[in-house]
Amino acid sequence: MLVPNPQPDIDTSRISITAHMTGYTWYANGLSSAAFATMPGRLFYHATRPWMRMGGRVLGIADFEATLLQRHRIIDHLLEKAVEEKGVGQVLELACGLSARGVRFMEKYGPEKLRYVEADLPGMAARKKKLLQDGGLLGENHFVVPVNILAGEGELSLEQAASHTLDPNVPTAVITEGITYYFPLEPMKDLWGRIANLLSSGSGGVYLYDDFARSSSPFYTNLLMAWTWLVGIVAQGKMHLHFLSGQEVNDTFCGLGFCDVSVHRPEAFAGVVPIPVSRIASFVDIIEAFVEREIQG
Ligand SMILES: C[S@@+](CC[C@H](N)C(=O)[O-])C[C@H]1O[C@@H](n2cnc3c(N)ncnc32)[C@H](O)[C@@H]1O
Repeated sequence: MLVPNPQPDIDTSRISITAHMTGYTWYANGLSSAAFATMPGRLFYHATRPWMRMGGRVLGIADFEATLLQRHRIIDHLLEKAVEEKGVGQVLELACGLSARGVRFMEKYGPEKLRYVEADLPGMAARKKKLLQDGGLLGENHFVVPVNILAGEGELSLEQAASHTLDPNVPTAVITEGITYYFPLEPMKDLWGRIANLLSSGSGGVYLYDDFARSSSPFYTNLLMAWTWLVGIVAQGKMHLHFLSGQEVNDTFCGLGFCDVSVHRPEAFAGVVPIPVSRIASFVDIIEAFVEREIQG
C-alpha cells in the first residue's frame, strides 16, 4: 500500500535518525537482534559512549546509555505486568523506531495471547517492516503501520491505525518511548487525550511513556538542559520539559480522561528490574496511566 508522507507542517522525520541511536543501544545490551543494528547507530554509539561514560562517572549521574536502559527496561516490566495481571491482550507502540520490544513480546507471549502493532512515520515504518520481514521476525498478529502522532485525523492518524488493527473488545496498552519531549506540551496533550479516548472507547487499558524528571537543583537542571541541547542538535529541533512535578503530571492526565496515574522513578525499580542506578537521581520518569472502559449506555 502506498502511503503519502505527512503534510509538511507535521513532518517530523528529521527525528527519525535518533531511532538508530536507541536501536543500537538495545542491540548492544542484548535487548535486540542484529537486524536492528544499523551503521549510523553503531557509529553514534561507539563515538559517544566513552565520553558519556566518563561524564556520568565524574558527575555521578546516569549517563545517556544508562538512562535509555532505565526507561526501556521499566516500560518492558510495566508492560509485562499489564499483560499478566491486567488482562492486556494488545499493544499499540507509537514511534516504535528500531526497538525490538514488539519482537521480544511476541516471542514471549505468542499470537494467541498478544497482538502487537508497531507504528512510526511512513519512512521508518516501511524500514522497520522490511527489517522484520527480512529477518523472519514478523509473525502472526504482529503488524507495522504508518502513523504520525501529530495527525488528529486521516490516513496517518493513530485512530485509523487502531481501527484497522486493534480489537475494541480487548484491553490495550499504548506505548510511546523517547518521543514526547521532542514536542511542546499542547500537541502532546492533544495526543494523550486521543489515546485516552481510544482506550475508553475500546475496553480500557494503560498508557506507558517516559518523560524528563524535573528537579529543584539548579546543577541537575543545567545538566538536563545540556543533555537535551545535545540530543536536540542531532534531532534538529528543540526539546521540551513538560512538567514541574509529579502532581502536574497527575493533574494533566486525570484532566484528559486517565485515572490511576503513577509517576515512577527508576531508582524504585533497583533490584526488581536489571537497570543501572547512579549516585544522583535519574533524568527520566516512567508514567503509567490507566483508562477504564466507558460504560455503554
Ligand atoms: C528517539 S526515537 C525512539 C524510537 C523507539 N521508541 C525507541 O525507544 O527505540 C524517536 C522515533 O519517533 C519517530 N517519530 C518522529 N516523529 C514522529 C511522529 N510525528 N509520529 C510518529 N513517530 C514519529 C521517529 O521516526 C523515531 O523512530
